[in-house]
Amino acid sequence: MDNRNVYLNGDYLPLKDAKVSVLDRGFLFGDGVYEVIPCYQGHFFEFEAHIIRLKQSLAETRIASPYTQEQWREILLPLIDSTLNQYIYLHLTRGVAPKRDHAFPESIRPTVFAMCSNIVPVAGVENGIKTIILDDSRWNLCHVKATTLLANVLLRQEAIDNDSTEAILIKDGYVTEGAASNLFALIDGVLTTPPLSKEILSGITREVILKIAKANNIAVAEAQISVEALKSAQEIWLTSSTREIVPVIELDNVNVADGKVGALWHTVTQLFQAYKQSAR
Ligand code: PDD
Repeated sequence: MDNRNVYLNGDYLPLKDAKVSVLDRGFLFGDGVYEVIPCYQGHFFEFEAHIIRLKQSLAETRIASPYTQEQWREILLPLIDSTLNQYIYLHLTRGVAPKRDHAFPESIRPTVFAMCSNIVPVAGVENGIKTIILDDSRWNLCHVKATTLLANVLLRQEAIDNDSTEAILIKDGYVTEGAASNLFALIDGVLTTPPLSKEILSGITREVILKIAKANNIAVAEAQISVEALKSAQEIWLTSSTREIVPVIELDNVNVADGKVGALWHTVTQLFQAYKQSAR
């Protein structure tokens, strides 16, 4: 049994002892929000951006924001091993209600849970992954980092069942994002990513890549990507806090360009690693 310490509602305790009520609204309704924050050798990566996004998710779901950025840092730091590359999973639900009722209960305190896990690089990812294209079956609040992830779970599993690592999602003929990642495509020499909207998560990795690209005179655009444009892209990448920048070499069993990891991926990955070092 995994015996690392986790944080639950003010206490640090072994994972096996961390329990919440079956009347918790997170359990009953998926009524909660979360963050995934990387922590490299004891240094949080883009901590402020993650906490700002958490506050936005809390505001959108009308869950009271219980702590300031500095209080979050104090709460999360004891969970971290400063010799490892890890990530914090931080999860807030609306709290435990006296009975099951969709409407918000009165005077309820959020449930706050956090745990730390090691970032384990997936073997071979740098050689590129296979993906499938699926209809985006999610709701229209995808900008909220909600724990209500059933559609994402089903989409990711459909990818796995089709010998692929990730699903690339399409709404009305245009790419939104991956089931648990944002998407970049090199189209006519321009590094393109779908614009922010309620149809995608405002990924922190996405923001960092946009910043790095602009600072290094790489042509970038936040623009819609049609399925046709995606299929003829020179490079495709998927980005997230836990996997960073993952090159895609296959779409629906068809090679992306020549089926090899592209030159721009190598360049931006190096810049991203340098940024991580400098951000400490
Ligand atoms: N997911 N879009 C979706 C739907 C995601 O679930 C994620 C990340 C991203 C990338 O966001 P960021 O760069 O801030 O990690 C985009 C996390 C890692 C998860 O659910 O585990």
